[in-house]
Amino acid sequence: MISKTPKKEREINLKGAVQISHSSFFVYEDANGKTFLKNGKDEKIHKFAVQTMINENPHITRILKKFKIKPNIDTKTLRELTGGHMNDTCNIAMGVYSILSSDIKCQVDKSTLKEASMLHDLGKVLIPSKILNKPAKLNFKERKIMNIHSTLGYELLKTQNLSEETLALIKYHHQNLKHSGYPTLPVNHTESDLGVQIISIADKYSALREARVYRRPLSRIESLLILYREVREGKILPAIYNALFKYAEIYDC
Ligand SMILES: [Fe+2]
Ligand SMILES: [Fe+2]
Repeated sequence: MISKTPKKEREINLKGAVQISHSSFFVYEDANGKTFLKNGKDEKIHKFAVQTMINENPHITRILKKFKIKPNIDTKTLRELTGGHMNDTCNIAMGVYSILSSDIKCQVDKSTLKEASMLHDLGKVLIPSKILNKPAKLNFKERKIMNIHSTLGYELLKTQNLSEETLALIKYHHQNLKHSGYPTLPVNHTESDLGVQIISIADKYSALREARVYRRPLSRIESLLILYREVREGKILPAIYNALFKYAEIYDC
């Protein structure tokens, strides 16, 4: 268990994200307002929390069986996700949100966005590490398995005290404006795409700026150029791209 709140950090109340299955995930905010999930010594507890979520939702086991995935919880993946990519995505999403014009901002719930971006890739703990860390392009079958991580994250976190809005953002964080991402949106889908757009662009930018087993981290310009192609393809709203562009420039990240 986490015994002390480190100096200059305070626990913040992100509804279910603070206490997920027996006080497992602790969300902190530092003096600069950056949020992060506490990790490190508590990996066993985190692992136990994920196992509890699996036990509480039999649908997860059915999905894993369908894709012939062994229900292994990869502690290393969990550590890397909570300590790196999910925090970065959350901070970028918050930065983009803060720069958006008020007419867009008023259509997005900030705390929902924060909570969802902080937890968006939790489902990756169930993706076999040989797929997650493959130093080459994934084949068709591996890509199909990789793509269920957002649904797995949704199913895991459905067992927790999170709102439907947060869960929807987690489930659809790989969707885009053209709805050509995954998983497929329901036919009667009516919600605003703006939250998904912000979390999605933050997720992609964070991933492009990180090193991967198969490539070096891309520069700010390279990453922004890749995302600009998606704007031209109609997958990203220009206003959200412009906010990311400004954020990256202001924070030199
Ligand atoms: Fe993802
Ligand atoms: Fe991600």
